[in-house]
Amino acid sequence: MTPYEIIYKKRNGGELSAAEIKWFIASYTSGAMPDYQTSALLMAIFLKGMTPQETTELAMAMMNSGKVFDLSDIPGIKVDKHSTGGVGDKVSIILAPMVAAAGVPVPMVSGRGLGHTGGTLDKLESIPGFRTNLSYDEFRHTLARIGLAMMGQTPDLAPADKKLYALRDVTATVDCIPLIAASIMSKKLAEGADGLVLDVKTGSGAFMQKQQEALDLTRTMTAIGQGMGKKMKALITDMNQPLGRAVGNALEIEECVDCLKGKGPDDLMELTYALGAEMLVMGERAGDAESGKRILEQIVSSGQGLEKFREMVAAHGGEVKVADDYKKVLPQAKHVIEAKAEISGYINSMDNREVGMAGVFLGCGRLKMDDVIDPSAGFIFERRIGDQVKAGETMAKVLYNDEQKGQEAVRRLVKCISISENKPEVVKLIKEII
Ligand code: URA
Repeated sequence: MTPYEIIYKKRNGGELSAAEIKWFIASYTSGAMPDYQTSALLMAIFLKGMTPQETTELAMAMMNSGKVFDLSDIPGIKVDKHSTGGVGDKVSIILAPMVAAAGVPVPMVSGRGLGHTGGTLDKLESIPGFRTNLSYDEFRHTLARIGLAMMGQTPDLAPADKKLYALRDVTATVDCIPLIAASIMSKKLAEGADGLVLDVKTGSGAFMQKQQEALDLTRTMTAIGQGMGKKMKALITDMNQPLGRAVGNALEIEECVDCLKGKGPDDLMELTYALGAEMLVMGERAGDAESGKRILEQIVSSGQGLEKFREMVAAHGGEVKVADDYKKVLPQAKHVIEAKAEISGYINSMDNREVGMAGVFLGCGRLKMDDVIDPSAGFIFERRIGDQVKAGETMAKVLYNDEQKGQEAVRRLVKCISISENKPEVVKLIKEII
């Protein structure tokens, strides 16, 4: 086999065999296949697509490029959740302790902020001392001891994905369904869970802006997981506005603690319960989603969810007082300004990608790989789509440390929130369950 033959076949719309895909991934991971030929193949895949069989083979080859975690000696059906990414999406941090407290083990390998979207690892690391760079052994022991563990992708977990992702990022081949599906699933399959609940986002703040694209991605990822013998369930959910009220790392941790104390915003709780209920069904702790939701409500009202969160923070070396008095523990921004409505009316829509980018610019994310995050910066939204607002009233608060960035964030937020005379239709948060 040669790279030339494989590129030529895909360029002409051919279907690559399992052997060709395995050879390509092994050659690229080892460094034998150069970036210029791999880029050509990625672009051919982008333009010609992949069959479901090819996509599954690609995910499997990428998974097998590194270590595949074996969690089989840890009792119980292990279930993880994956979100395709959004703005203010802190669900994992609320849901993992709740589901673990209900008796379903949650092994979770999470990511950092990507583009305009926030990352679970960055949020967790705003808790002083919290370590996400666990070793494989620490991950396994933490999972076995407290029922959940959260870590980042290690160099030996799906290394082919790490290399390919960096190349896709600079060759305009990221937004390609087979490549996204194989990338996400290779990591999720390598982490050793028995089942996976997907939260596939759609809307202005999602990578898949159109619902049909989100549906295609869902079907592709579900087929890969099922082909590997994993239990799969997916929710397609709205990302046309931030989830909850907080956007920004420490602010989102504060909101997570509020949720675990039963004081979370409705939309965030609705989605957390819906995803968590599916995890309990998958983990055979609930017969159906309705009873799963009731179990989780009880976990929150009894304080067991917050207690498990405390255990999680302690097990990862973080300051446990965050669960009691987060203002004393988490970094706090020095200044607050308000983004005010310029006209009266109803919040009609938000350019949620731009909300995320305004946050990145403020310091919640990275514009360059080596940028340092400002964990205290962010937004608190006081209005949502459909809410009435009068000219001069606050739509969102901007918390900042850098005066120029704070002022710029206010300007950007005001510009990307559109106000109309008429009340818009209610946006459904959970669009489909697959
Ligand atoms: N997240 C991933 O892990 N991979 C992609 O390709 C896109 C989003």
